[in-house]
Order: sequence, then C-alpha cells, then structure tokens
Amino acid sequence: MKIGILGMGNVGTGVYKILQENKNEIVKYLGSHIDISKILVKTINKDRGIYIDGSMLTNNSDDILNDKSIEIVIELMGGIDPAFGYIKKAIENGKHVVTANKAVIATYGKELEALAKEKGVFLKYEASVGGGIPIINTLIESLAANKIEEIIGIINGTTNYILTQMTKNNLSFDEALRLAQNNGYAEADPTSDIEGEDSAFKISILTAIAYGLNVSSNSIEREGITKVQKRDIEYASELGYKIKLLAVAKKYKNEIEIYVYPSLVPNEHPLAAINDEFNALFLRGNAVGELLLCGKGAGSLPTGSAVLADILSVAKSIENNIDNIGNVNHGDKAVEVKGIGNSQYYIRLQVIDKPGVLGKIAMTFGKHGISIDSVVQKSRGEKTVPLVFITHDIQKDMLDRALEEVDVYEYVEKVASVLKVENI
Ligand SMILES: NC(=O)c1ccc[n+]([C@@H]2O[C@H](COP(=O)([O-])OP(=O)(O)OC[C@H]3O[C@@H](n4cnc5c(N)ncnc54)[C@H](OP(=O)(O)O)[C@@H]3O)[C@@H](O)[C@H]2O)c1
Repeated sequence: MKIGILGMGNVGTGVYKILQENKNEIVKYLGSHIDISKILVKTINKDRGIYIDGSMLTNNSDDILNDKSIEIVIELMGGIDPAFGYIKKAIENGKHVVTANKAVIATYGKELEALAKEKGVFLKYEASVGGGIPIINTLIESLAANKIEEIIGIINGTTNYILTQMTKNNLSFDEALRLAQNNGYAEADPTSDIEGEDSAFKISILTAIAYGLNVSSNSIEREGITKVQKRDIEYASELGYKIKLLAVAKKYKNEIEIYVYPSLVPNEHPLAAINDEFNALFLRGNAVGELLLCGKGAGSLPTGSAVLADILSVAKSIENNIDNIGNVNHGDKAVEVKGIGNSQYYIRLQVIDKPGVLGKIAMTFGKHGISIDSVVQKSRGEKTVPLVFITHDIQKDMLDRALEEVDVYEYVEKVASVLKVENI
C-alpha cells in the first residue's frame, strides 16, 4: 500500500517513526506493508531530527496528488490554505485521505465528506480532536447504537497546561503561558488556543459526528482563559472546584447547547483531575451511560498513533473491498442550536470594604431574579476587597443586566471575573 504525506513536522515525524518502529505490528494487522512514496515539505534541506531519504522529499504537491500509484494521502500540514485545496484535489483524484487538520474539518467537513462519498473514498480525521485519544472512531463506531446526550471535553492541551500551572504552582496567566511556550506546549502565537478557537473547532467536529449537525465554529459561544486570574483559581479551590476550559455539547429534546467556556468543575468529578497537557472527554450516552476517555491531546507520537489508526483502517477497508458509506450524516435537522442555557455562575467583584455593600449587591441581584448559592468575602486589609458569589441556575442575560447595574455603583471598583459553574 503506497501513501503520500503532505507535511513532515511534529505529527509527520511521529507518523514516520511509528511506521518504522512498529513495522511488524503493522504487517501483523494488515498482512502487508505501508510504503511512503513521497513527502511534501516547504523546505527540503531541514533538520527534522530523523533520517529521511532525500529523494522522498518534494516541493511539488502534484508529485503526490497526481501519482496514480498512491492510494492514501495523509495531510499533516495544518491551516486552511493550501491544505484544504490539496485534500479536495486528492479526493477528486480518487485518493483516500487521512488528516489531522481540525481547522479544515471544522470548516469544510460537510463539503469534503460529501465529495468523498461521491468519489467512493474514505476521509478520516481521528487526530483532529484529542490527539492520541480515540474519540472520533469511538463516537462513529463503538457508540453507534447510542443517543449521545452530552459531550464535555477538555480538548485543548495548551490551556489545560496553563491552568494547571496556575493552580499547582501559583503562577500568573502570563507566567504560565511563558512556561508553556518554553516547554513546547504553546505556540509562539497562542491566540487560537487561549481564546478558545481551537476548542471551538474541535467541539464543532464532535457535534457533527454525534448529532449530524453542521455548526460553524464561528457561531459557537466561546470565551478563552485570558481573563482567569490566580485569585479565581484560589477562591474556586476554597469553594471545592478546579477551573478548566470546557468545550461542551448537550442535547435536549429539540435543542442543543454548544459552548466553550472557562468553568468551575467540582473537585470530585474526574475532569477536575485532568492536568497538564492531558485532554479528556466525558460522554453520556443513553445506553452506555457515563464514559471518560483521557490521554495525550497532542505531541508527535500520540497524534501519530491516531493518524496511523486511520491509515490502517483505510488500508484494511481497501484490502477487504469495503466502501466508504460516510462518517457523518450532516442533516439539517430541526434542532435549535444555542449557547449556554440555564447555569450557575461564579462572579468576583472588587468592592470597597464597608458595611452594607454585600446587602446592596444582593438586593440588585434579587431584583434581576438572581438567587445566590454561596458568598465568600475576603478582607486583606486593602482598600478594596474581593466579593465572590456562586449563583443558582440563571440565564446569562439576567446576569449581564444585573452586573451592568452593579458595575456603576460607586462602591464597586470592578466586575473582576465571571466564570461558568459546570455542575456535572
Ligand atoms: N502538533 C500536535 O501535537 C498536533 C496534535 C493534533 C493535531 N495536529 C494537527 O496536525 C497538523 C500538523 O501539525 P504539526 O504540529 O505537525 O505542524 P508543523 O510541525 O508545523 O508541520 C507542518 C509541516 O507541513 C509542511 N508545510 C506547511 N506548509 C506547507 C506548504 N505550503 N507546502 C509544503 N509543505 C508545507 C512543513 O514543511 P517544512 O517542515 O519544510 O517547514 C512541515 O513539515 C495540523 O493540522 C495540526 O493542527 C497537531
């Protein structure tokens, strides 16, 4: 079986190493070899940390996309352009495609799935969500007989690493981000991770698979972790919670809630114990019940493992003459897609330390229909002090209106933080 690889960076070298080191396991599973014919890269003469025969490398995508002997194209370049065009051309030329590209699949998955089905080829993207965690094939195959009721994921390793450092080592957001960059857990430009865009891509892909819904990642309600402060982590901990960036899809009868939001997770929930660069997905299916998948959400070998799983699955299907019947039914179903519904919130206000302030704020909350579950008031001998509330279940717009009013009171210095409480 001949394959062509587009991109030989982090993930590409992982795939290359696994193909070399696990040759025997692969032959045992498949009964034949997987041979790399050509590898597309940007810079031919570059140290990739592994030996690759120079004659395999090319700058010309046609050497792979137009080579009739190549049956599977593996796209590991990243970004939309030119990756999307190359994937499309590979499918049009009758080649199966395996990709790790969440941006392309979240944005063009529906179009590419339809094209692949029309051309009778496979399009697989296990590595696009959760790195080495086999979430996509679990949803498509192992849980096929379930109605998925909810997916709650920690699906961005960079933000989980930053939040873990802030929690365990008392670092500020900026210090933890720098550490993540120094240790290779965050990119030089971390915007997509810390602003929640990466998580939105991934939950959009999972929503398509679990619910057959084509929800653009741009339309997903999201907030990243840039506003989370050490103090919030400290108070959340006192109240019995850890702060995690959660990507959530919850299905109700005729509606589905999808969002990415920094949230307080109860200490006793297994997601609270997912630390560092690890990812995890907590699922609830109507037959299987609760399920937790956890593992390395990124990295050369873990992600390479997911890519290889797809390559082997496609190769086996080719050998057994099994056709692609499509991964996902992207139907335009009569389901309303919403952001966060009724929820508890954590609010931290910075207020002037004088009697009566708590009562006045509580009254304003009451006027807007917000009832309080718990309050923590801290006195640090400073002019202003933090006042922390956890609300009962409320609608976010009620909270926004109340906070707008509270924010202009002369004894309120600022609304310092608003986080979601995910009571799972
Ligand atoms: N890194 C992870 O842990 C991880 C985890 C899950 C999913 N993913 C996804 O996997 C994909 C690859 O990520 P990565 O971290 O391996 O990226 P990377 O290290 O930046 O590697 C990208 C590779 O693509 C090549 N490339 C980029 N643009 C090109 C162009 N226009 N023409 C030819 N070659 C081009 C680069 O060539 P040169 O080497 O010559 O520059 C490089 O070999 C992305 O979609 C990413 O989202 C990554």
